Amino acid sequence: MKLVVLNHKMNLNYEDIQKYITDLENYRDKIVVLPSAIYAKEFIEHGFITGLQNIYCREKGMYTGEISPVQAQSLGAKYVLVGHSERRRLFAEDDILINEKIKMALKNHLKVILCVGDEIGDPPEVLASQITKALKGITEEVIIAYEPVYAIGTGKVPKIEDIKKQVEYIKNLVNHKVLYGGSVSTNNIKSLEQLDNIDGYLIGTSSLSSAEVIKILEVVE
Ligand code: PGA
Repeated sequence: MKLVVLNHKMNLNYEDIQKYITDLENYRDKIVVLPSAIYAKEFIEHGFITGLQNIYCREKGMYTGEISPVQAQSLGAKYVLVGHSERRRLFAEDDILINEKIKMALKNHLKVILCVGDEIGDPPEVLASQITKALKGITEEVIIAYEPVYAIGTGKVPKIEDIKKQVEYIKNLVNHKVLYGGSVSTNNIKSLEQLDNIDGYLIGTSSLSSAEVIKILEVVE
């Protein structure tokens, strides 16, 4: 069974979440939900495997607005996403910060999903650099989410053979599970399922609709 991770980003309000939880209650063991952090407790209390979309690299202190891995762990969160391309681009997260976040999350027993991504025409070294810098000094298992930047939220999915090549490249570099992310939807999940070297999916836009999630889960093996 592949890992299906649902990244809500900054979407859905409290009423939407109630319905979403009811709709997906029977699918709880097939998904990892990354809701807005303020809804994490709601999902955890309903037995969903839950994570956060971001975490800070300190355990406590004067960091207004941030959430620490100690807090996340004490709430019952299991996963954390680190280095999403939106955080790199909009919030200027660099490889050093990402590396610190991963170390602190692992220290506090959270499973880390590290997002990496390239643009069309980038040499493979772009991915290698992101991965080696983010994982510097880390020996524990970290899940890698390969998300080509141009595929995120655009509906443009790379050719299956191109994804396969990049995933192979990542797996030769580090011996970790690799998820594919970027415009995964009911339109392309059947062809993505032809990939024999990915371990799951990171889904944004399509994860906002419970009906869409159920349709995707029906296809994913
Ligand atoms: P998308 O987002 O499915 O909307 O492309 C994926 C992600 O950014 O994690």
